Amino acid sequence: MKVLIYGSTGWIGGKMLKLLSDLSEAEVIVGKHRLEDYSGVEKEIEEAQPTHVLLAAGLTGRPNVDWCESHWDEVLRTNVIATSVLADYCYQQKIHLTYFGTGCIYEYDPKHLMGSGIGFTEEDEPNFDKSFYSKSKIITEKILKNYSNILILRIRMPLSDDLHPRNFITKITKYEKVVNIPNSMTILSELLPVALDMLLKSKTGIYNFTNPGVISHNEILDLYTSLIDPSFRYQNFSLEEQSKILKAGRSNNHLDVSKLCREYPEIDTIHTAIVKLFERMQKIERASTE
Ligand SMILES: NC(=O)c1ccc[n+]([C@@H]2O[C@H](COP(=O)([O-])OP(=O)(O)OC[C@H]3O[C@@H](n4cnc5c(N)ncnc54)[C@H](OP(=O)(O)O)[C@@H]3O)[C@@H](O)[C@H]2O)c1
Repeated sequence: MKVLIYGSTGWIGGKMLKLLSDLSEAEVIVGKHRLEDYSGVEKEIEEAQPTHVLLAAGLTGRPNVDWCESHWDEVLRTNVIATSVLADYCYQQKIHLTYFGTGCIYEYDPKHLMGSGIGFTEEDEPNFDKSFYSKSKIITEKILKNYSNILILRIRMPLSDDLHPRNFITKITKYEKVVNIPNSMTILSELLPVALDMLLKSKTGIYNFTNPGVISHNEILDLYTSLIDPSFRYQNFSLEEQSKILKAGRSNNHLDVSKLCREYPEIDTIHTAIVKLFERMQKIERASTE
């Protein structure tokens, strides 16, 4: 097995590269070309002859997703066109492709009310396109899902054990005020090894890729206060107040992960997984101060 990875300098791609590099059964090659360099990417694939491509490259925006509102062309070219061209080339060459999609393509609606316990399934039509980033990911998913060689993993509000700036915990501890909405979230340390297993098994199709259940901002911040920083304080504001300081809308939803959990029943619920995450974070914090 040979895996060619794009986006390995990124947050999620870097973690996947580390997991792949620890495997004895896979040879790993790091993609060097920009996705829009179609001939360069094709040449790279021709030379490397991978059995699998892992696509963790994409534009998400810096400092946040609002950036995408003023960079439509770049977002369209990378997230939609170049990603689709790569997917099509992998199909022609009979190469399995793993793609990181997003679950931020839904928002609570009358059939999926907040607190009802009813989540959006993989078959539900996306109903959230209030950010150009989400729009680009919806279009791409609609294209990629028709290919028989592609695994689409819908990540949401990813959390990591460190206080990396991309970590959802880091983000909400830095905000002046936070909303308090229950959401589906992906604990990367638990779910990226699952992503790797799915790649190794050449699984295909769309999977909602979060821990089961939902957790609110306040629940996370209360745990952070009790387990990491007792001096931490936060303030809430409403969704209406939040919308005044953002360019793009933000999605809040519950994803149904029955499909994923039928195949991986050992995945912890979000509440169990987050306590374990904070315990690992405590150890990292202690080690850094010793
Ligand atoms: N982080 C999240 O909250 C989240 C949630 C759901 C889904 N996802 C998806 O997961 C994937 C990875 O996200 P991330 O958070 O790891 O993002 P990230 O830290 O911003 O990393 C993005 C990676 O993509 C590369 N890249 C960007 N444009 C490229 C292009 N045109 N050609 C080749 N490489 C390019 C970057 O390389 P350079 O640095 O060299 O540009 C970097 O390695 C994305 O597809 C994202 O949509 C992320």
